[in-house]
Amino acid sequence: MSRRSIRKYKAVTVGRDTLEQILQAGINAPNGMNKQSWEIRVVDNPVLLESIKDAMAEANPGNRMARDCFRGAPVVVFIANDTNYDFSPIDCGLLAGNMILSAWSMGVGSVCLGSPVRFIASPEDPSCAAIKTVQQKLGFSNGYEMIICIGFGYADESPKAKPRNESKYRFVEL
Ligand SMILES: Cc1cc2nc3c(=O)[nH]c(=O)nc-3n(C[C@H](O)[C@H](O)[C@H](O)COP(=O)(O)O)c2cc1C
Repeated sequence: MSRRSIRKYKAVTVGRDTLEQILQAGINAPNGMNKQSWEIRVVDNPVLLESIKDAMAEANPGNRMARDCFRGAPVVVFIANDTNYDFSPIDCGLLAGNMILSAWSMGVGSVCLGSPVRFIASPEDPSCAAIKTVQQKLGFSNGYEMIICIGFGYADESPKAKPRNESKYRFVEL
């Protein structure tokens, strides 16, 4: 209940030991037939992260959010799903949820990010060499497509919970 999306981070990264624990929690998520129909890429190198931001801005000149879509997170995890398995998006969502909650249990904040998927996988200018380089570096296997990203880092803000609509659930009687 205390987890919130973090969009302001302290200028320190998350250690590899902690990231390993977050990744382990992720891959231990429930998943269809234990196919583990995900691929995960972790970028914690600040130089590489900057070059990805530059490439997103270059390939998406019409969107001023392209460069800032990681929301200042010092670590970004890119997740791809298996396009040949219908439940793979669910697998990837559960993987992401496990990572986000395990991170928070260790004091690491996060933000789930859909927008970088568009900026990298379907950019305004698909012929942009810089974004092609990013796609190659991430190197997802054939048949896998990026579906979601997660930014991780130590929170430098404490946002309030956004309202939730409780009429979205109900108990079904008899
Ligand atoms: C599939 C998905 C995509 C999202 N994409 C973005 C995004 O691109 N940028 C962003 O700042 N937040 C993004 N979010 C975070 C949501 O805005 C946030 O979870 C929601 O407003 C509820 O707020 P809370 O996480 O603080 O409870 C995304 C969340 C999900 C689940």
